Amino acid sequence: MDRQVSALLNDQINKEFYSAYLYLDMANFYSQKGLDGFANWYEIQAKEEQDHAMLMYQYLHNNGEKVTLEAIAKPDKTFETLMDPLRAGLEHEQYVTSLINAIYAQAQKVNDYRTTQFLDWFIKEQGEEEKNSGDLITKMELFGNDARSLYMLNSELAARVYSAPSLVL
Ligand code: FEO
Repeated sequence: MDRQVSALLNDQINKEFYSAYLYLDMANFYSQKGLDGFANWYEIQAKEEQDHAMLMYQYLHNNGEKVTLEAIAKPDKTFETLMDPLRAGLEHEQYVTSLINAIYAQAQKVNDYRTTQFLDWFIKEQGEEEKNSGDLITKMELFGNDARSLYMLNSELAARVYSAPSLVL
């Protein structure tokens, strides 16, 4: 495998675990605010990020590449309003999309079609993650200022269930 593709994927494992940590901190924030549904939504989001990291870990191993695990950074965002994590979440997903795109571009540059095919799933996933984050912001803008609506939104988010990623290696 191209050195740079391998290094970028290795680095992305760390970024995905950081994402998990960041989302867990958002769950933590909502939990402290008594919004268990929002907390549930972000706990599941954190699990999905761990899945993303493990898919990359497995992919590198399947291709005989060495994986180096680095320290996971502390979640560095502070939240005050109920909207803050939602906006930070969308911003973070846009950043992750740019990282996935950069790996894809490098794989394409060196004709590593196996990796571009592997990353196709992540390209699609990023589209979904950005949409989900954006939808949450829209709902919060519409309903967040009314206690009864917020209660219902919280109940809706409480219903989210975890499902394993559709990508199997
Ligand atoms: Fe692993 Fe939320 O992207």
